[in-house]
Amino acid sequence: MNLTVSLGRLHLPNPILVASGTFGYAKDVSEVFSQVEKMDLAKLGGIIPKTITKMPRPGNAPPRTCETAAGMLNAIGLDNDGLAEFVAQKIPYLREVGSPIIVSIAGRSAEEYAEMAAVLADVPGVAGLELNVSCPNVAHGTDFGKNASACESLVTGVRKACGELPLVVKLTPNVGDVTEIARAAQEGGADAVSLINTVLGMAIDWRTRKPRLGNGFGGLSGPAIKPIALRMVYQVFRAVQIPIIGIGGIETIDDCMEFFLAGASAVQIGTANFYRPTAVMEILSALPAALAEAGVRSVREIVGMVEM
Ligand SMILES: Cc1cc2nc3c(=O)[nH]c(=O)nc-3n(C[C@H](O)[C@H](O)[C@H](O)COP(=O)(O)O)c2cc1C
Repeated sequence: MNLTVSLGRLHLPNPILVASGTFGYAKDVSEVFSQVEKMDLAKLGGIIPKTITKMPRPGNAPPRTCETAAGMLNAIGLDNDGLAEFVAQKIPYLREVGSPIIVSIAGRSAEEYAEMAAVLADVPGVAGLELNVSCPNVAHGTDFGKNASACESLVTGVRKACGELPLVVKLTPNVGDVTEIARAAQEGGADAVSLINTVLGMAIDWRTRKPRLGNGFGGLSGPAIKPIALRMVYQVFRAVQIPIIGIGGIETIDDCMEFFLAGASAVQIGTANFYRPTAVMEILSALPAALAEAGVRSVREIVGMVEM
């Protein structure tokens, strides 16, 4: 069975990746993983560490997470130590893990995205970049993810700054027409798009009359959002020629197969890492048998093959 996938310039050993913000910087979770039999981070198709910004950010006021029916809300607010600290302290460990590292970045302006991309293009061990234009939990976090022309010029600028480094653009579901933004990312020179980031939501404690999150609103993730994500992957597959990484509520091999059929060439596992850390390895080991059951010899043969 051929598990390799190519997303434009980005070549991965298999299509099972872990999503930004749900896997720390790999070191943080490696202890949990080392206690589980057959866990080996080097086997992952790719790791997208928590989004970094140019300068450190403290994140939002607590509480930052809250459970909901079939999912969770978060409003972390891009809490991170900044680019320089990431390169000095996190990259050396990530490099050792042995699976492709796709660094997620968020800038306050197009210039800042490009500046960060130029720095990271020269860092050994960075396999690609994921442009987070879809964070619902910070002011202006989705400015480039909601406006097609802003998205296209952002990606064009980043592409110029980072040369041939593979570029993935991570899309927000909090738009009227996600295909417009996907097309803009393609026009700007993205190798792939990933979708979806979290769905903007809210929880209220009626007894205290206060929102359950310090930020008021937050991003909904987990099984609750899977149907939204599948529908958007299906639509984007029909709108662009570049490959898609599917994200949203994936926790089993069946979920993955559904995303492949909808049009995803690879998937990212997010919230499931919190409540079932074994999920990602279970999915990976079940993949060859599921592809065989579907009657194909590679992931590529099944992508977008849903029959309507
Ligand atoms: C606690 C938490 C933190 C997250 N942080 C980030 C982040 O820093 N950057 C990003 O692009 N997405 C972030 N996400 C979104 C996930 O990467 C993913 O797109 C989303 O949760 C949907 O997938 P899931 O339903 O499998 O979790 C975060 C999600 C959660 C739950």
